[in-house]
Amino acid sequence: MKDLLELAVVIPTFNEIGNVPTLVAKLDAALQGRNWEAIFVDDDSPDGTAQAAREIARLDRRVRVIQRIGRRGLSSACIEGMCATAAPVVAVIDGDLQHDETILPKMLDALQADEALDVVIGSRFVDGGCTGDWDRDRVAKSAFATKLSRRVLKADLSDPMSGFFMIRTQIVRELSPHLNAIGFKILLDLMTGSPKPLKFLELPYTFRVRTEGESKLDHVVAMEYLIAIYDRMFGRVVPVRFAMFSAIGALGAGVHFLFLGILFKELGMSFIGATIVATIAAMTFNFFLNNALTYRDSRLKGAKELFDGWVTFCIVCSVGAVANVGVAAFLYDARADTWAFSALSGILVSAVWNYALSSRFTWGR
Ligand code: GDD
Ligand code: MN
Repeated sequence: MKDLLELAVVIPTFNEIGNVPTLVAKLDAALQGRNWEAIFVDDDSPDGTAQAAREIARLDRRVRVIQRIGRRGLSSACIEGMCATAAPVVAVIDGDLQHDETILPKMLDALQADEALDVVIGSRFVDGGCTGDWDRDRVAKSAFATKLSRRVLKADLSDPMSGFFMIRTQIVRELSPHLNAIGFKILLDLMTGSPKPLKFLELPYTFRVRTEGESKLDHVVAMEYLIAIYDRMFGRVVPVRFAMFSAIGALGAGVHFLFLGILFKELGMSFIGATIVATIAAMTFNFFLNNALTYRDSRLKGAKELFDGWVTFCIVCSVGAVANVGVAAFLYDARADTWAFSALSGILVSAVWNYALSSRFTWGR
């Protein structure tokens, strides 16, 4: 019985090469006498984090490495790591030493002592916890994000933004089809994805200062947070990717008009010529914006991938445009007083077409 694996510690990493050996040593010290394994989930970091972790793994069989190629995302990396263990309990901890690994045994004890408990959360906002050295800006942003999370979260969590927690692995396996896996907020995703409220316990810790490498929390991650909240609120009605694709499509229409205005009105180009250039400009604009935002997690990179993607995107959208005109004309033919309805129907059909086909052929999903 004593040899049974108790705990897996999942460590999402992106460019954390300087932190890997220290973290393993710290886990080893903190988890003395426990049966644990560590799973690094690295998104093919250019700095060679995965290789550094593999070198340790050759010497220490408790260390495992998942190297994901062509994908990015903290939440999805955590889910993948959590589903890859045979341990009954799994923890998620940042790879940059900001989370306090010394409370892991206490977290594990709590879960082992109380069968009804589902998740133990490291919190910076319960008594004894601390955010450490944060500037006013980050305090304000974190407070805003926490407030926003209350719109989707029914539980009264002090630190729903925490990326440091321990949970029963079986729960993650059951919930994984219901997770949105967007951005950074894996804990929030789990807590809001569960049909029955999860029973949780919060333990205090002090958020440490990062000494090696740098934070990946940027504007896009902040936007992804808003998207994740949207997904929990309205995602069932209009899927989040489709909503983004359509919003970008609307911006593309603006680009189209801008080019048309300049080329046709200002520079006196022929209407047909100006329309062709405006259409290509709008498609190109939409392609790059969708690549950077809607499909950030499977973004195309490098000249060849981008060129091939752009070509397939333009082909798909051209067919979409023909479908738009076809549907609108057909409906308008049937009843001429419904011009706005006909036009909207055409737009909707082409939006769904463009979305479905470009998702498949441009971004290979
Ligand atoms: N695999 C993978 N893929 N790992 C990633 C990615 C990614 O796209 N982005 C970030 N990571 C890893 C980092 O390498 C680090 O180990 C960990 O995730 C946290 O990333 P940071 O960039 O250091 O985030 P932070 O310190 O600003 O915020 C963290 O702590 C907050 C407080 O607990 C995150 O965990 C937040 O979710 C959390 O709120
Ligand atoms: Mn960090």
